[in-house]
Amino acid sequence: MCGIVGYIGKRQAYPILIGGLHRLEYRGYDSAGVALLSETDKLNVYKAKGKVSELENVAQEKDCTGTIGIAHTRWATHGEPSARNAHPHVSESGNLTLVHNGIIENYVVLRDQLKSRGYHFQSDTDTEVLVQLIEYVQQSLGLNLEQAVQAALKRVIGAYAIVVLDRRFPNRLVAARKSSPMVVGIGEDQSEYFVASDASPIAEYTTQMVYLKDEEIVVCERGRDLHVFNLSNEDVPVEVKNVELDLTMLDKGGFPHFMLKEIFDQPAVLEDCMRGRLLPEHRRIVLSAVTDHRERLTQARRFIIVSCGTSWHAGLIGKQLIEHFCKIPVEVEYASEFRYREPVIMPDDVVMAISQSGETADTLAAIELAREAGAFVFGVVNAVGSSIARNTDTGTYIHVGPEIGVASTKAFTGQVCVLTMLALALGEARGTVDPGEYHAVIEELQHIPEKIGRILEQNDRIEVLSKIFTYAHNFLYLGRGWNYPVALEGALKLKEISYIHAEGYPAAEMKHGPIALIDQEMPVVFIATHHQQYEKIISNMQEVRSRNGRIIAIITEGDQVVPGMVSEYIEVPETLACLAPLLSVIPLQLLAYHVAVQKGLNVDQPRNLAKSVTVE
Ligand code: M6R
Repeated sequence: MCGIVGYIGKRQAYPILIGGLHRLEYRGYDSAGVALLSETDKLNVYKAKGKVSELENVAQEKDCTGTIGIAHTRWATHGEPSARNAHPHVSESGNLTLVHNGIIENYVVLRDQLKSRGYHFQSDTDTEVLVQLIEYVQQSLGLNLEQAVQAALKRVIGAYAIVVLDRRFPNRLVAARKSSPMVVGIGEDQSEYFVASDASPIAEYTTQMVYLKDEEIVVCERGRDLHVFNLSNEDVPVEVKNVELDLTMLDKGGFPHFMLKEIFDQPAVLEDCMRGRLLPEHRRIVLSAVTDHRERLTQARRFIIVSCGTSWHAGLIGKQLIEHFCKIPVEVEYASEFRYREPVIMPDDVVMAISQSGETADTLAAIELAREAGAFVFGVVNAVGSSIARNTDTGTYIHVGPEIGVASTKAFTGQVCVLTMLALALGEARGTVDPGEYHAVIEELQHIPEKIGRILEQNDRIEVLSKIFTYAHNFLYLGRGWNYPVALEGALKLKEISYIHAEGYPAAEMKHGPIALIDQEMPVVFIATHHQQYEKIISNMQEVRSRNGRIIAIITEGDQVVPGMVSEYIEVPETLACLAPLLSVIPLQLLAYHVAVQKGLNVDQPRNLAKSVTVE
């Protein structure tokens, strides 16, 4: 949540910072701000409620010169979204300015102490405490900027990624992190540095990145090498990584929204996800994680999957895949519940974190707990170099490219694709998968991208269909077996971007309560592809029909039964049961998208949400 970008170098900082904020806006978008040190050493701070474009309006015709600056786009935690609460915050003397991601848990105590020493606060945020505290220790202990940052952070409880600029040190930016990501990009020679909360805003300028670790502080100074040290005052070797982001993935590529682009990306990115892992010529799946940790993974007593939101839905499919192909019991946990309920974790458990962003605070905390208990930690992550990716024993990237739309789409299918390959590779290693089925799934996986493409061709039809349902206040999504998690995912997609209340249920559970809701006003989406329990789901459909429920059915091409029962249906190509979610979720993504567009809503940046949930 929230996005940070900072620059120090020879170029004008403002265009770099504003461009960076636009790239980061998906993380938080309720207010934004920028601080620039002008050529005359004047600190200019501009802020606005709302989107980055509002900030640009505010800054228009103001002095935006300067080759050093910091900027922020906010997702409010403490204090309402407003210009007053937007970052950067400025210290009492006006010398220091700071941007922050995370939450300072002991901010009330610190603020009271600082107030009693004559500090005044302009905002309701926890962040303002940080900038005042740094100034206080700097003045009272006679420290330079980085020493003051270190001393102040030692007094802080909570999570932070910060960048600080001191008007009196115009050649220096200081950044630090704990439990919130921070990356430094090295530009030309040692003459310019970029700092950001993730690589996306700086990837167009450099591929040379340094990821800070918890409790590390970095000094970016013109003309000098990076200096990294930690809260224990130890110097830390600078580890430069070559990170190349596909920049075409960072723009809309002609689509009206990132979400639609990312839905349409799926055939290509699933090819990327399988490339070099699914080897058609050998009819095999080879995952380096399984090869490198064969013993540990094949001997696992149990898998525990920890994740949130869409990634949790992928985890439910992962459970079925691993139990089916590997005969290992799997539990799927909400990371937020798991981390606080004293779970029993054994050293021979494999704890698997699934996360698109790799920064979700609860998932990160859950794997830390797992590591402490001695479990082996496996990551299924999209964002390369993210905190979760770096805190696992091994893992498999899903490689679907940056996902910008808040509603997760291609990450879900990428996660399911990786979980399928993992279950097959592990099942083969354990000797628990039937060889005929193993080869059949490998064969069929190769056709999935093309089959998704065929579903996408129905986009116009689904758009027309969506118009019928924008009136609805409630939706019910029902599926069974492999398609039950798809029902949950379809409901989540609709509610988060269209603000229509939607519930996903296992279809048979309908009789145990939700059936009471059904009337002619209630659209019911059945995921009724031609697989296990097809006949049973047809019976569930009859039950809805006889109560005048309005059905939208996702069915397999050529289904002769359902089209005679319902007026609205979308066909998906035939596939194997275990791969059904990869296809049946696509029309639900498109349906949610078009309903939200019909309602005139901001699909990519729905209200109250953020792409990366880095606070618990
Ligand atoms: O980055 P992660 O996969 O860890 O994020 C988990 C959830 O926050 C995320 O899936 C969220 O539910 C999405 N907005 C769903 O579309």
